[in-house]
Amino acid sequence: MNYKGVIFDLDGVICFTDKYHYQAWKKMADDIGVYFDEKINNRLRGVSRMASLDIILERSEKIYSQAEKNILADRKNELYKTLLHQMTPADLSDEVKSTMDKLRESGCKLAIGSSSRNTKLILKQIGLEGYFDAVSDGTNIVHSKPDPEVFLKAAEFLGLDPADCLVVEDAIAGIDAAVAGGFAGAGIGEAAGHEKVTYPLNTFSDLLNL
Ligand code: BG6
Ligand code: MG
Repeated sequence: MNYKGVIFDLDGVICFTDKYHYQAWKKMADDIGVYFDEKINNRLRGVSRMASLDIILERSEKIYSQAEKNILADRKNELYKTLLHQMTPADLSDEVKSTMDKLRESGCKLAIGSSSRNTKLILKQIGLEGYFDAVSDGTNIVHSKPDPEVFLKAAEFLGLDPADCLVVEDAIAGIDAAVAGGFAGAGIGEAAGHEKVTYPLNTFSDLLNL
């Protein structure tokens, strides 16, 4: 690994909470009679909770006040957290865990850079509480991806320059954020096809070849 630090997005990279986000948003959207599908859901990857709600409400005829939006976002988050509580260490794949262990053995510092305000709960559920050298998440940022703030904070927490860190992302907004912050970006899933990606990954363990 040619980088001193690796900063991982959480949802869609380390674990697959994206299906729970979808289920919870779908229930909320159905309850208020707003159309929502998997394609719209893809636009929510890496985007903060309130910005995600605004994207969903683009299909709504009713204009919601800020107070009403807060209620909708809270309702979604309560359902989402119920689903997160079903997660266990079995939801962390052997490939992801052994790849991270090997990166660490080779001397890399490891961090999380996630927009989620539920990051610490998710890490606890999948048995990674206390595993990372730094955690930067939705609780320590003002601007969400594609703004680079969450990754700049992660690099700062690691004590490293962005140029010495690799960001691993599944979201287009996440790769845009990495590039804007001066980081190299490895894209997985949909993000592997992004024109700005430094390294496309077929699978997570491809990181060991970089
Ligand atoms: C990101 C997800 O990691 O976190 C987004 O990709 C989500 O889909 C965002 O909206 C915020 O998550 P949370 O848990 O704070 O609602
Ligand atoms: Mg993601």
